[in-house]
Amino acid sequence: MTTVLQTTTVQHPRTVERLVIGQATSDGAGVKLTRVLTQNLQNRLDPFLMLDAFGSDKPDDYIAGFPDHPHRGFETVTYMIAGRMLHRDSAGHEGLLENGGVQWMTAGRGVIHSEIPQQEDGVMEGFQLWLNLPGRDKMCPPWYRDFKAGDLPKYTTAQGVAVTVIAGESHGTTGAVTRDATAPLYLDIHLPAGSRFEQAVPAGHNAFVYVYRGEVTIAGQTVPVQRMALLANSPQADGVVIEATTDAKVLLIAGQPLKETIAQYGPFVMNTQQEIYQALSDMRDGRLGEFAA
Ligand code: FE2
Repeated sequence: MTTVLQTTTVQHPRTVERLVIGQATSDGAGVKLTRVLTQNLQNRLDPFLMLDAFGSDKPDDYIAGFPDHPHRGFETVTYMIAGRMLHRDSAGHEGLLENGGVQWMTAGRGVIHSEIPQQEDGVMEGFQLWLNLPGRDKMCPPWYRDFKAGDLPKYTTAQGVAVTVIAGESHGTTGAVTRDATAPLYLDIHLPAGSRFEQAVPAGHNAFVYVYRGEVTIAGQTVPVQRMALLANSPQADGVVIEATTDAKVLLIAGQPLKETIAQYGPFVMNTQQEIYQALSDMRDGRLGEFAA
């Protein structure tokens, strides 16, 4: 962990366009979760397709996990705050995701995978983000990496703000993953009460903040716990300034929009309905995971 002297980089901070409350839902074999980024925000928050927050100390809420299911056409980024989950997929990847680790999976032309909790009690908490792929990459070979908590780039500011750089670049620290087409920025930011954090974000990128502990203020707007603040896009805005009124933990996520049509059917996200029919027919014929062997 290094300490960086934070320079003032943001002259015109973004404002909050609106606050969003997630929707309680369940997925997989009955895992209870909160869908923070829902389908109706996919164009507004392009290139991001979904953000789920899961967190419970009741095993019944998570124990069944996510048995074998397919994906095609995008990337899933799972960030485990607490708990242990085993991933297995048709491309032969297997990995245990635990306490502070990240799993980055590019489904590309197709994987079938399972995500199963490896604990029978205790807290399981984390996030899964879906990041779109540009049309030209949707049928790319699957790709997968596990990052243990200790492998993720981290730094602390002079004010004691601790930042984990999962993707993108922040104050000279390059994240675990970078992507050209979508240029995703994914930061987990832990702010002590009274601290302030600045992050440069290109004006054309879509960006949001999700508060999962405490409360923060962005451009005068209070953002309470379990709220997503959609950050306004304006041509002169060059970043975001987050101020903590209490000890707080937030995710800051931003990316370059693809501006392509989005056709989603469950776990398949393509550009056209025809490509969705193809994915369903490949799935039915058992051809979805076989490319990956
Ligand atoms: Fe999945």
